[in-house]
Amino acid sequence: MALAISSTIEPRLLLRRLPRVCLALGGDTADEMMDTAESLARDNPFLEFRLDYLKQPQSALTKIHRFLETHRYVTAIGTCRRAASGGKFKGSVAAQLEVLGKAQAAGCQIVDVEIESALRAKPEAIARLRSCAGLMVSFHDFRGTRHLEETLGKMLKVPADFYKIVGTATTLSDNVAMMKFVQTESDRHPLIGLCMGEQGIISRVLGVRAGSVFTFGAVNADLKTASGQVSAADLHGTYRIDQVDAATRIYGVAGDPIGHSLSPVIMNTALRRENVNAVYLPLHAKTLKDLIHCAREIPLHGLSITMPYKQAILPYLDNTDTHTAKIGACNTVVRGQDGKLYGFNTDIAGIVRPLEQRLAIEGAKVLVLGAGGAARAAVFGLKERGAEVWILNRTSVKAQKLARQAKAHSIPRAGLRKIAFDAIVNATPVGMGNKRECPLQDDEIQARVVFDMVYDPVETHLLQVARAKGIAVIPGIEMFVQQAARQFEIWTGKPAPAGDMLHAVVAALQERAAAQKQPKA
Ligand code: ATR
Repeated sequence: MALAISSTIEPRLLLRRLPRVCLALGGDTADEMMDTAESLARDNPFLEFRLDYLKQPQSALTKIHRFLETHRYVTAIGTCRRAASGGKFKGSVAAQLEVLGKAQAAGCQIVDVEIESALRAKPEAIARLRSCAGLMVSFHDFRGTRHLEETLGKMLKVPADFYKIVGTATTLSDNVAMMKFVQTESDRHPLIGLCMGEQGIISRVLGVRAGSVFTFGAVNADLKTASGQVSAADLHGTYRIDQVDAATRIYGVAGDPIGHSLSPVIMNTALRRENVNAVYLPLHAKTLKDLIHCAREIPLHGLSITMPYKQAILPYLDNTDTHTAKIGACNTVVRGQDGKLYGFNTDIAGIVRPLEQRLAIEGAKVLVLGAGGAARAAVFGLKERGAEVWILNRTSVKAQKLARQAKAHSIPRAGLRKIAFDAIVNATPVGMGNKRECPLQDDEIQARVVFDMVYDPVETHLLQVARAKGIAVIPGIEMFVQQAARQFEIWTGKPAPAGDMLHAVVAALQERAAAQKQPKA
């Protein structure tokens, strides 16, 4: 069937009406791609059809035409990236341009041509494409974020409506380079700039703040068309990308790894609930030097610090609170207006707050399991509140050392039954991701309250046994919520919406558990 040219939109006007997120659609078959488009178009009126994902790219064109005729509010990009430029299309440049010409005729208001193809094609062929629709010239660097100005210089030789430059972030600082580049150049050229890779997530959210015309989002976590792509639902729901502007404060959680952190869910929920103009991002920091550079340059207003940097960050801080100094670990950083970095430890609040809701801590007899970083926060926090604390650890010398430092007691396993504890706090990772492992024998679990810092699964074996015995239980998510709530208070000066934060994290854990049960295609 010959398709009439249906695009009547003046491409240069598109700049004004483009949504901030373009949803990239892959799929194995044209029907699958169109089903996804159909189901998501209402919430995502800006779609990219990755025709190169299809065995026969042209098989989708009639369907796209029909779809765009019936969804006139949709703006569509047609892309048929060649394998040589990182896509899946195995045909020649001429064949690629033929597909793109037909995509225009089917109603795609923008077509994407890689700079490699654009330079190999005859200028008239590219000009012809542009005469009927918006032309986006794109460049992808799958190894790094390099030579951005030079690359743009080459791309500008091809007259186009959009220039898309995509690097790969191998460090957090690559995002800084990309955003500075976009900030400088986007006044003069309509640019889309972002970094692929897990470390590039910041650029996908903040690129539009720097001047990128839009960014790309995935259908969902399983259907990404580029590494590090964030789902469109997360860009809108979690990161509120439509509200990100120059005044938006930036916070983040830094660690290695960071992909599974629930901190972005919980903290962005709190920021949204309290109407704070701020966004909180996952920062996959492979080195502290990189993190600190990124924190200073972006600049970040605050950081949550997680494994493995809670101790290692200390030398980089200009000042710390007494908890950080005592525990020797920092989980919260504030970047002051003077640019200095101030360290806090809110893990203590994460432990003390849930416990004090169940018992009077002063004078209580508490058994802490473990002698690592989490245990240190528990022991010092509880001692500060007047509890009597015993420490049991697999490696007993570590328990003895911590006991000496905190004026607590160390206890051998055999001594457990001699003391009637009010509370037991598990500060070891035993039981994490495993419902059967337990740091204590069933008959050793004797107390009024049992608090397990492990939060995944929500109900560990330790808590199951305690609950069965009629003991009050505190799941680890309460610590997670309360330490985050305290961070929120330090950063914003507002009381944290702890209830909403708890709901958000429970929902996220349930979603994750459900996703793990789903068979993978
Ligand atoms: P965190 O900062 O989360 O506390 P950590 O500093 O590595 O992590 O400390 C982990 C604690 O859990 C330690 O007390 C560790 O015991 P050791 O000092 O003997 O290493 C304890 N731990 C880890 N795995 C354990 C296991 N399988 N059984 C018992 N204790 C364990």
